Amino acid sequence: MDLELKGKSVIVTGAGSNIGRAITLEFAREGAHVTLADIDLAQAESVAKLALDAGAASAEAVRCDVTKLDEVQALVKSANDRAGVDVLVNNVGWDQLMFFTQTTPEFWQKIIQINFVGVLNCTSAVLPLMAAKKSGAIVSISSDASRQGEPREAVYGGMKAAVNSFMKTVAKENGRNGIRCNVVCPGVTIPADDEVGANSMWVNKDSMFTPEQLDAIAKSLPLKKIGRPGDIAKAVVFLSSNAAAGHVTGQVLSVSGGYSMVG
Ligand SMILES: NC(=O)c1ccc[n+]([C@@H]2O[C@H](COP(=O)([O-])OP(=O)(O)OC[C@H]3O[C@@H](n4cnc5c(N)ncnc54)[C@H](O)[C@@H]3O)[C@@H](O)[C@H]2O)c1
Repeated sequence: MDLELKGKSVIVTGAGSNIGRAITLEFAREGAHVTLADIDLAQAESVAKLALDAGAASAEAVRCDVTKLDEVQALVKSANDRAGVDVLVNNVGWDQLMFFTQTTPEFWQKIIQINFVGVLNCTSAVLPLMAAKKSGAIVSISSDASRQGEPREAVYGGMKAAVNSFMKTVAKENGRNGIRCNVVCPGVTIPADDEVGANSMWVNKDSMFTPEQLDAIAKSLPLKKIGRPGDIAKAVVFLSSNAAAGHVTGQVLSVSGGYSMVG
């Protein structure tokens, strides 16, 4: 089916590594203009080259820290001046696995800024542009930790739950302007070594999960395998497409091998 994303303009935050990288390349294969926002500019630039090779209408890498509203506004202005803004993918997220009793107030603030304030900044910057043209799609990457109460992810899971709720409210407030807002919740999603930059959470995979833990996670899932970044990317592209998901808004979709099943 034609997803009608050719020539559309898409901003992906955290586009340099793993899931953001795969999302960017999936939009590129659809022939979209892609704007790759990342604090790691060199890594985003390397993915921008791959995006052009994959068929992107254009690809621009922009250094942007999503926790800084002025940097986000400059990012969105630059994308809009170049190609407009049809789709925003709020992909940036960060965590370090620790029990809540091991965490500090400084750690909580970092989690809140990156996982929630970044989404507020980016969403606030694109909504007026999308409202003016009565069309747009926003997809935020949350986590199954937002639905499950995941040990060692207390503050992160709380902020991802905030993202789910925020996106539902924005969906209700902006549907009249033709703007659809949805959420994708990955489960454990592991990149290959050449799919991450130095700033990725996965640059040292064993610090997240040992191979034995990954094996146990895979065995525990209904689909018996760990997620790959492309699994998430396909769901994001589906939700971004008015042709495929034009009547879908305010939804939270787990792409996690069946880890969460929410009725
Ligand atoms: N990989 C998983 O297992 C998993 C599971 C559930 C949810 N998620 C969510 O999926 C999303 C992507 O995760 P990932 O595993 O691909 O992450 P990753 O750490 O591999 O990549 C994140 C990218 O974002 C960039 N980045 C970090 N902070 C930034 C900031 N403040 N501003 C701009 N760019 C910044 C990094 O440089 C990196 O390129 C996140 O929201 C994460 O919470 C991931």
